[in-house]
Amino acid sequence: MDLELLASLRTPEGSAALSAATGVTGVDPLAAASALRARGIPAPLAAAALTQADLRRRAEGKFGAAAAEMFFTRAGLEQATRAVVADRRAARLRAAGVATLADLGCGLGSDALAAARQGIRVYAVDADPLTAALAEANAAAAGLSALVTVECADAASVEVERFDAVFADPARRRAGRGRLMDPQAWSPPWDFIAALPGRVPRTVLKLAPGIDHALLPAGAEGEWVSVDGDLVEAAFWCGPLAEFPRRAVLLPSGGEVHGSGVEAAPVGTVGRFLYDPDPAVVRSHLVAEFAAEIGGRLADPQIAYVYTDESVDTAFARRLEVTDVLPFSLKRLRALLRERHVGRVEIRKRGSALEPEQLRRDLRLRGDGWASVVLTRVAGAPTVVLCR
Ligand SMILES: C[S@@+](CC[C@H](N)C(=O)[O-])C[C@H]1O[C@@H](n2cnc3c(N)ncnc32)[C@H](O)[C@@H]1O
Repeated sequence: MDLELLASLRTPEGSAALSAATGVTGVDPLAAASALRARGIPAPLAAAALTQADLRRRAEGKFGAAAAEMFFTRAGLEQATRAVVADRRAARLRAAGVATLADLGCGLGSDALAAARQGIRVYAVDADPLTAALAEANAAAAGLSALVTVECADAASVEVERFDAVFADPARRRAGRGRLMDPQAWSPPWDFIAALPGRVPRTVLKLAPGIDHALLPAGAEGEWVSVDGDLVEAAFWCGPLAEFPRRAVLLPSGGEVHGSGVEAAPVGTVGRFLYDPDPAVVRSHLVAEFAAEIGGRLADPQIAYVYTDESVDTAFARRLEVTDVLPFSLKRLRALLRERHVGRVEIRKRGSALEPEQLRRDLRLRGDGWASVVLTRVAGAPTVVLCR
């Protein structure tokens, strides 16, 4: 899509083309294109409407019903913050008294729109003209244009000091190069991003969940967020926005664990129950805090499985009941699973180099029973914890 096609999609003819395209999504693309052309829709508009209808359908997972009114590019959608995450961030900014926000690298506007939904006045920029135009179109579609000003500009040109707070979500992928691991290769680059809290104390940085804790600015809070058990992002909350050194947030429930991120959990034996913590808890280095909450312990200081002797209900981990603990041996594990008639296994691992799919093949399972095979280490030794 280009700027001209986006503009034509926003006309009454474009809107009609989009409705027609929505009606034929999911059918053979050639048939869909000819159905639209049969209605007199010019080929370029028909193609753009079909692509848009397809992207809107894919975007439902991130934006729910609102996706049906939004405009996307494939890259913009991939990089966009899920609405549930953006809404929570915006509510936190609002609760901290933020009334004006600069969004540097706004993409198609997910974070900017969420802030505006909280009544925050947003100045959003994106260096890419089409992406900036998408953000503007999305603000208009959401009826939020009065609160969101979008400009196509380089983040470096924004006088951020004029705003209560600044938010930056740098581009961490590049066409043809995939994910960029080196923060200096992000756009805007890390040097620019890292200097923002010095200019605007209330800065929030959205980053990849694998971000190195060492990059956390002094005194800032590192927050890791998961949605339905998938780790989706890290955010650094700087200056007065920091409340705890580390925080794990589980969405959509909103459950949180906080702490220092440097506590060590007690270490003991494998218990009757094994807890596999949510990845946000693990990445935020809050396993000790989680273990304390359920009165649990590790069986190896380096491995983030937590054990208890009594069953404890928790939203922060998957709980499994331990049936057997054995030193890792393919032969012994295979014999045990045969004896129990286990034909299906779920394989989890931490601290094991074994390839789960290879192990599944090597186990040559038979039977109609089911078990969880946890490959791990106990006091440094490769161990299998078999669970129900
Ligand atoms: C990860 S995306 C932002 C996604 C956005 N938060 C959302 O939820 O839709 C990063 C955006 O930054 C933009 N960008 C990259 N470098 C920039 C720069 N120097 N100035 C302004 N925008 C930039 C890219 O065009 C891209 O749209």
